[in-house]
Amino acid sequence: MNEVYTGKTKDVYALDNGNYMLQFKDDMTGEDGVFDPGANTVGLSIEGAGKAGLRLTTHFFKQCRDQGIPTHFIETDIDRQTMTVVPATVFGEGLEVICRFRATGSFIRRYGKYAVEGQPLDAFVEVTLKDDERGDPPISRDALDTLSILTKAEYSILKDRTQKIATLVKNELAEQAIDLYDIKLEFGRDQDGEIVLIDEISGGNMRAFKDGVYVAPLELAKMVTKT
Ligand SMILES: Nc1ncnc2c1ncn2[C@@H]1O[C@H](COP(=O)(O)OP(=O)(O)OP(=O)(O)O)[C@@H](O)[C@H]1O
Ligand SMILES: [Mg+2]
Repeated sequence: MNEVYTGKTKDVYALDNGNYMLQFKDDMTGEDGVFDPGANTVGLSIEGAGKAGLRLTTHFFKQCRDQGIPTHFIETDIDRQTMTVVPATVFGEGLEVICRFRATGSFIRRYGKYAVEGQPLDAFVEVTLKDDERGDPPISRDALDTLSILTKAEYSILKDRTQKIATLVKNELAEQAIDLYDIKLEFGRDQDGEIVLIDEISGGNMRAFKDGVYVAPLELAKMVTKT
């Protein structure tokens, strides 16, 4: 087993059969012990965070599979805290695709002159470059095309899948009376060039509220997977 990447919240290994294995850790993004899903640093470690993230990820990836949405998911081993996946190549050096149902976070920081916190948004999609040095800048469809990161046709597929997946998650949370504000997804190309959902869908990638109170990642996993 070869380690190919040491991430902030997961380590990535290449298996002998060509698949990848993601090892979920208890580390969470944030600063000085305070969790922040948008942060690019590890800010805290909570026992059980890795397992909770893997449980929720597995839950949603299975739902995607049931709905015919292509993902990298193969199987999960909860005790080992690992998920076996199909290896993918990312677009450029990696993109994040955000779907917003309510205005918060960087949307308000950028557009606060025209938007108020919590304002409803209609599955608004935006793409950011994974570029820690430049603060993960948002990038337009035209810029993605011009920079040969993504064609315009691929952008349409990406946007469509993002809205489908985000809506699936939103509806699932709504069953527990939880309100999904926004969610961050990652995509890549598999061996056949197909655009597939990769990485994870856990509390660490979304902001959700119940009765106006933020639901932290571990609690969210417990509520949705009923564990
Ligand atoms: N199927 C896959 N094929 C290739 N890479 C993948 C796949 N699934 C997830 N990854 C990548 O594995 C890494 C997982 O580690 P982790 O989420 O901890 O990274 P990170 O420290 O957050 O860094 P990054 O800024 O790249 O997300 C990410 O870089 C993610 O893009
Ligand atoms: Mg990550």
